[in-house]
Amino acid sequence: MKILGLESTAHTFAASTIDEEQIYTNEKSMYQPEEGGIHPRKAAEHHYQKAHEIISKGLEGEIDAVAFSQGPGIPQCLDIGAVAARTLAQKHDVPLIGVNHCVAHIEIGKRTTDAERPVTLYLSGGNSQVIAEKNSQYRIVGETLDIALGNAVDKLARKLGYPHPGGPEIEKLAEQTDEIIEIAYPVKGMDFSFSGIVTELEKKVGQVEDEVIANTFQEHAYASTVEALERAMAQADSNEALLTGGVAMNNRLREMVEAMCEQRNANAYFPPKQYCMDNAAMIAERGLKKAKRKQFTDLKNSEIKQNWRPEGIKV
Ligand code: ATP
Ligand code: FE2
Repeated sequence: MKILGLESTAHTFAASTIDEEQIYTNEKSMYQPEEGGIHPRKAAEHHYQKAHEIISKGLEGEIDAVAFSQGPGIPQCLDIGAVAARTLAQKHDVPLIGVNHCVAHIEIGKRTTDAERPVTLYLSGGNSQVIAEKNSQYRIVGETLDIALGNAVDKLARKLGYPHPGGPEIEKLAEQTDEIIEIAYPVKGMDFSFSGIVTELEKKVGQVEDEVIANTFQEHAYASTVEALERAMAQADSNEALLTGGVAMNNRLREMVEAMCEQRNANAYFPPKQYCMDNAAMIAERGLKKAKRKQFTDLKNSEIKQNWRPEGIKV
């Protein structure tokens, strides 16, 4: 069964064709703001302008269904992908499948690693959640109480004068020192929060070297998520950890997850980097699983869901 997936929740417009055996294409174009963060209308404009080119490259042969990111995300951006998906489904006379973007991050992780029933640490620009599986449903067992981790690192980088996305810049800076300043980092049960860490470090800009600020951020913010992940694994009695989302490309974070898993005799799984950040193969993968269960989306139920949480969604 061949599925075309479309992704357009935030900065990336992407298209991918997959089946059970193979990922044939994984095309994407990323909107890069000239300054500041993601501007919803400008990102949507980027998607609209790139859609034809990316879909032409990403659509491979005869397809059996079109899957698209139905939410959560930036409404203006989601709309572009939804309109394109509805049109393609009608043109090719195949069913439409609305997909939860967060669940898709997990399911491409399972496809590209040996993880079977992991506790997932999903860290991106818009989301930061610890997700476990219970009775074959995804459950959010921990999450950020304020902003997402990617958003936090992007904000800090912007304050230091680096362009979007800030995660890789902060990582490069942090690698240049072992020094940190000690600050408070809140972990409440399995929830965490990053606003306070960013505010605290923003106050140090100009007083402390950029490298030390970056390293302090990584050692506190990233460690707090791994602490929550460990607690979630203990509660779920799980020996599998899956790291995904754009921030999962961070090497220091991967090291921390690996060290924690080693101590617990658990396995840490990291999808290849092109499947950590937003991509369309993950949307097609989730779509493929839904198609096999004939869970299609009627046109009248295909409206975008800006705040669609993965809570309670069937694995
Ligand atoms: P979602 O819609 O799932 O919230 P997203 O739109 O934020 O996803 P992603 O591609 O999953 O998109 O994640 C982008 C984030 O990943 C950005 O905040 C970026 O700074 C961060 N990031 C990318 N590379 C790194 C890195 N090496 N270290 C830390 N953060 C990184
Ligand atoms: Fe994402």
